[in-house]
Amino acid sequence: MLPKKAMLSRTPPMGWNSWNTFGSNINEELIRNTADNMVAKGFLEAGYNYLVIDDCWSEMKRDENGRLAASKEKFPDGMKAVADYVHSKGLKFGMYSCCGTRTCAGYPGSFEYEYIDAETFASWGIDFLKYDYCLRPTISDGKHLYRKMAMALRRAGRDILFSACNWGADNVYDWIRSSGAHMFRSTGDIVDNWDSIKNLYRSQMEKGPYSGPGCFNDMDMLVVGMYGKGNVGFGGCSEEEYRTHFALWCMFNSPLMIGCDINNISDSAKELLQNKDLISINQDPEGRQPYLANNTNGDRHTWIKPMANGEYAIGYFNLSDNRTDVLLHFWDIGVPSLSGYGVELYDCFKHEVIGVFKDFYNPIIEAHGCAIYKAKVVKL
Ligand code: GAL
Repeated sequence: MLPKKAMLSRTPPMGWNSWNTFGSNINEELIRNTADNMVAKGFLEAGYNYLVIDDCWSEMKRDENGRLAASKEKFPDGMKAVADYVHSKGLKFGMYSCCGTRTCAGYPGSFEYEYIDAETFASWGIDFLKYDYCLRPTISDGKHLYRKMAMALRRAGRDILFSACNWGADNVYDWIRSSGAHMFRSTGDIVDNWDSIKNLYRSQMEKGPYSGPGCFNDMDMLVVGMYGKGNVGFGGCSEEEYRTHFALWCMFNSPLMIGCDINNISDSAKELLQNKDLISINQDPEGRQPYLANNTNGDRHTWIKPMANGEYAIGYFNLSDNRTDVLLHFWDIGVPSLSGYGVELYDCFKHEVIGVFKDFYNPIIEAHGCAIYKAKVVKL
């Protein structure tokens, strides 16, 4: 049986993933509580519809039929029951495997079991598979293994979003879209601190042309709201840095997979992750990547992203360690004042129009901070 819908990632996928906070420390109760809170706290309504269990969910060995089996200790009711619960909340359910013989944490991988595993996942009712890149036999070719699992999923009789995770390695940009994957990790692993965010962002500055509807560059799961706690909580970020992190992921059309503990989320993290204006930039139906319109000193950047309604998202980012202004001359984006036009700016954090500007706009921005606007070209 073939899947019903062809297009599972018209816009960047959104959801929650267990890895960043919980690592191997996952179980049925956590997943049920998270499903409850994704709905009760407004995340589903904001667009976060995939709940994904990462590595460490299975028994250490396949069962007597060669099938993957959920850990009896962590998931005593089995994965079908967990999937049913997640679905009963109106969410979609995602799981994890690896194209090697073992997952990165040492659990059984899908190498040479691709078809049988795709069938197992479909029989449990999963809607999303994250597929990792560890422990591949050295003779195997990564792209072949992703193509194989994509094919196994496409014939499994269910719409399953395929989330490739090979960390941007082995020229993935050249072959991933044609494999059938719907999103792909184009970066190494994120950890919860400013250096990690800055480095991941810098690594993606030239990767825009590879991302678009159908298959999006994935800059890795969000660390917003972790405050240095949990599996990848190496130091934590300030609120300013979390805002910049989320705004960058939104401007770059990265999938938005929340990584903090939604059950105990802070008000500020919840407000940021549910910022409708930033989410609408990320989810813009045209899925265009931004271009770099200005780069001052290598650490003050302005990005422009054309949107489907004729407006532009403009992101000013201050990567430097000082409070400073960040400049954009409208000439550089095609709006000279001699033309008789200027730019009206709507602030995506204040949620209001801040004015019409002629020639240029250069907000003062805190160290590691940003300012994000939706811009209209208007007659002066
Ligand atoms: C890494 C992957 C992480 C996480 C981890 C699980 O390779 O990039 O996102 O899935 O494996 O072991």
